[in-house]
Amino acid sequence: MRITKSSSGKRCVLLCVCGGIAAYKAVEVLRLLQREDCEVRVAATQESLRFVGTATWEGLTHERTAYELFDWTDSAIPHIDLAGWADVVLVMPATANVMAKMATGMADDLVSSTLLAVPAQTPIIVAPAMNVHMWQAPATQANVSLLREREVQFVMPTSGHLACDDTGEGKLAPIEQIADAVLSTSTHHATDKLSARHIVVTAGPTHEAIDPVRYIANSSSGKMGYAIARAAALRGADVTLISGPVSLPTPRGVRRIDVVSAAQMHDATLAAFADADVAICAAAVADYTPMRVADHKLKKSKERLDVIELTETVDILAELCAKKREGGRRRMVVGFAAETNDLIENARAKLERKECDLIVANDVSREDSGFGADTNRVSFISAAGEEELPTLTKHEVAERLLDNISEYLDA
Ligand code: CTP
Repeated sequence: MRITKSSSGKRCVLLCVCGGIAAYKAVEVLRLLQREDCEVRVAATQESLRFVGTATWEGLTHERTAYELFDWTDSAIPHIDLAGWADVVLVMPATANVMAKMATGMADDLVSSTLLAVPAQTPIIVAPAMNVHMWQAPATQANVSLLREREVQFVMPTSGHLACDDTGEGKLAPIEQIADAVLSTSTHHATDKLSARHIVVTAGPTHEAIDPVRYIANSSSGKMGYAIARAAALRGADVTLISGPVSLPTPRGVRRIDVVSAAQMHDATLAAFADADVAICAAAVADYTPMRVADHKLKKSKERLDVIELTETVDILAELCAKKREGGRRRMVVGFAAETNDLIENARAKLERKECDLIVANDVSREDSGFGADTNRVSFISAAGEEELPTLTKHEVAERLLDNISEYLDA
């Protein structure tokens, strides 16, 4: 069996795991990358297998773990095959030892031989983690400088309390930051049709205050909007993400504006849309907000909490649609429709009522779709017709949506 690329078109990531306590975090990074549609293979040093064993890597990748130079695959020269297979190489946790080997060109085991065999155009990302004194040692710092001069990318360690009980620099960077560095090594950047286009994305729920401690909200996780923002940034777009309260990290390269209420989301989105080419309204904006916000915590025994008078919020999507013809350029406004029944009919009615260019209709009654899930089952509804997509990851839905937007802007 030679090590060959699958025809799936997925980004191939070679994860080189080294012998440090932070090796367990490589498991989480692997999962994050798989969720973002990467195909991951693991090359492990012998020492790293004391921290995380082959059973873990093989269970997650369904591939043999590479840790020996010979006899684990039919390939005659596995380190050359592995290095050629990768679109991007991630070394984590990078020890002082592996960086010293990389800097000097030493190739005395599978991982170091593979790293030396990586073709010049393939990006290598290094995420170090070690004891503060090992990190600050002049030898380590000299190796880091040398590798940076050679355009090896670093996700630098942070400061904190280390496993060895010392405090200082040497703590592995946050795993989302490491995954983002890998995902940002996009090759289609400069040539993509969305490159340098300004795209505004709304995401997450809004919170409508009743009093200083109570609010009306919904269970939107923000995952769909964040996946769109991340995928658009990876295509080189200039992305403004208007986010309601969610607990998600900001995707790399995305300008994020945090808002709480529908009114704040309205103001921020309208301002960002002034020079935008595309708006994608993925937020679950509250349709109603309390008429009055009490300036003190309402007391259930003394004050009326059983009746809250509500008033409708401004429909941001409809307002963007009304404004999109201003400026004389071709702009696109995309809305979402969360439905539990008569999906297509309801979504088409929404498309026509709000006059948007595309509705992403989402059947939230399904388990594999909608709020909180990592997958989504959607249909694209536009004047041109309907396109029903299979169950896809939110990342895949984002990619299909951006393909659709590219075509529209190009027409
Ligand atoms: N939307 C918005 N501003 C609002 C309300 C909704 O921009 N104040 C956007 C959402 O971001 C989404 C779309 O409108 O893109 C959803 O439409 P909406 O009419 O809110 O759908 P539902 O709440 O599902 O409405 P209905 O109860 O009529 O189905």
